[in-house]
Amino acid sequence: MVVLSKEERALEVRNLSFSYPEGPPILDGLSFTIKKGETVIFLGPTGAGKSTLCLTLNGVLKASGEIRIFDELLNRKTAKKIRQRVGLVFQNPNDQLFLPTVKDELFFGPLNLGWSPEVIAQRMKSVIKKLNLEGFEERLINKLSLGEKKKVALASVLILEPDILILDEPAAGLDFGSKKNLMAYIKVLPLTKLIASHDLELAWELAEKVIILDKGKIISAGSREEILLNEKLLKAHCLDLPLSAKV
Ligand SMILES: Nc1ncnc2c1ncn2[C@@H]1O[C@H](COP(=O)(O)OP(=O)(O)O)[C@@H](O)[C@H]1O
Ligand SMILES: [Mg+2]
Repeated sequence: MVVLSKEERALEVRNLSFSYPEGPPILDGLSFTIKKGETVIFLGPTGAGKSTLCLTLNGVLKASGEIRIFDELLNRKTAKKIRQRVGLVFQNPNDQLFLPTVKDELFFGPLNLGWSPEVIAQRMKSVIKKLNLEGFEERLINKLSLGEKKKVALASVLILEPDILILDEPAAGLDFGSKKNLMAYIKVLPLTKLIASHDLELAWELAEKVIILDKGKIISAGSREEILLNEKLLKAHCLDLPLSAKV
């Protein structure tokens, strides 16, 4: 195992456990480290605990164990600051977006942080350009397609310029074209990325490292090839080889 120095670590998780009230363990003693700039996919079947993990990592859900973001321990005192550095994009954009227009949504977070409208307008322009959302500023959110809503949700997180981006099932529910587009945007974002997904194609396209999660435990971790070409391992956890790896 390669041991990373303090400066190389973006995220370090030690013995993370979580249960919903009165329920069984959903995350069961997870430990892992993510390197700065790396893209890591948490892959696992439905119910594995992926979404729950995403919610614990930026402090939305309070888990036991240790989470360090750039060597700062996540706790009640640091949560607000850390949440600013760790952007979370929910699987369902309707859980994230709650204001009438795209512009309202993009202004909301930065205004709350006390940024000036001029600075926000400038950043909005750049994020909107990056995601090909030009002309969408005044559009009503509830009239957008799922793919467009997903892009707006991503934009509302990116505008805050996080250092770590957590994406929960970024491609779920998208048609082929929208998925390809969104994956292309995600791929070139120069951030540390943690992506929860059960989508093998997406993992093959985006991952540098893959961690298999099942029943709240890490089953296996390795490079994209080590994990995604291991048919026996994937089948044991209700997954299959990515189509593109089969040909
Ligand atoms: N709010 C909740 N209350 C109780 N149980 C939940 C809640 N959210 C998820 N669960 C349960 O936690 C387990 C893991 O769910 P989840 O983290 O959504 O997994 P995944 O994203 O991998 O599909 C599932 O068994 C699910 O039913
Ligand atoms: Mg999920």
